Amino acid sequence: MINNYDKIANYYDSLSRLVFGKSQVNAQINQLKSITKNSSILIVGGGTGWILEEIGKRHPSGLKITYVEISAKMLVLSKDRDYGANSVLFIHSSIEDFNLEDHFNIILTPFFVR
Ligand SMILES: C[S@@+](CC[C@H](N)C(=O)[O-])C[C@H]1O[C@@H](n2cnc3c(N)ncnc32)[C@H](O)[C@@H]1O
Repeated sequence: MINNYDKIANYYDSLSRLVFGKSQVNAQINQLKSITKNSSILIVGGGTGWILEEIGKRHPSGLKITYVEISAKMLVLSKDRDYGANSVLFIHSSIEDFNLEDHFNIILTPFFVR
């Protein structure tokens, strides 16, 4: 499993904001209005998990989220987020190795690059 993000996990959000300002954040937040009640969501490469908090603000409960992240450090940071009473299944894996068995209403791959 190739993973380049562990070393910068603690600084990723600050670095991203420094380079891109709020544009990457706003682009993702803009999509969240498409999430409907009780959706089943797949998030691939969610990074530090800030998106989970934004989702939780809009839908404090009822969502079923599967969160696939290749970086163990990003996953630790993500688990620490406040995502309300939503159900989040955290999976440490590359998406290529993840066995997709569920069906999802929404798939988010926000600025997911290798
Ligand atoms: C550019 S960062 C974007 C993070 C977050 N989406 C954001 O916008 O703040 C890409 C994220 O995808 C993860 N990632 C990269 N390749 C992956 C793969 N093949 N499977 C799952 N996650 C991957 C990285 O560990 C990293 O957290």
